[in-house]
Amino acid sequence: MPEPRLKKILSVFEGKKGGLISILQRVQEEFGYLPEDALAEIADFLRLSASEVFSVATFYAHFYLTRRGDHLVRVCQGTACHVRGARDILETAQHRLGIKTGQTTEDYKYSLERVACLGSCALAPIMVVDDTVYPQVTARKVVEILTNNEDGAKKKEG
Ligand code: FES
Repeated sequence: MPEPRLKKILSVFEGKKGGLISILQRVQEEFGYLPEDALAEIADFLRLSASEVFSVATFYAHFYLTRRGDHLVRVCQGTACHVRGARDILETAQHRLGIKTGQTTEDYKYSLERVACLGSCALAPIMVVDDTVYPQVTARKVVEILTNNEDGAKKKEG
């Protein structure tokens, strides 16, 4: 029996052909990632094999199979950012968050990713937290940004 939120999503696609990608997108929007159980339910729903659904889910980089943090921290490692100290920025972010690139903090607050050029090389080096772009960051700024972000989150909670 599908989880109620998944059931609701699948009901929208009832009787329609195809739709695997759209279903995966909706499920990821709802859950923040694609839970394993949901992939099995989706396979059943579309009468596909679990491996077909799994291969599509793993083919696209924007689908996640593990739970992500509430905030996504991305550090550009493109050439322009690299020559302006992006490695230092990434290491500082890793140290501050206590995780390696590609990981999520234990409390699921942050996920950290390295990305290729974000298309704003003149502002290198760049760090992005969710949708906010931080230009010309320094290691000190990284610590400040992440600390302020946490303080902001705490204020919202409290
Ligand atoms: S290399 Fe970082 S924005 Fe282009």
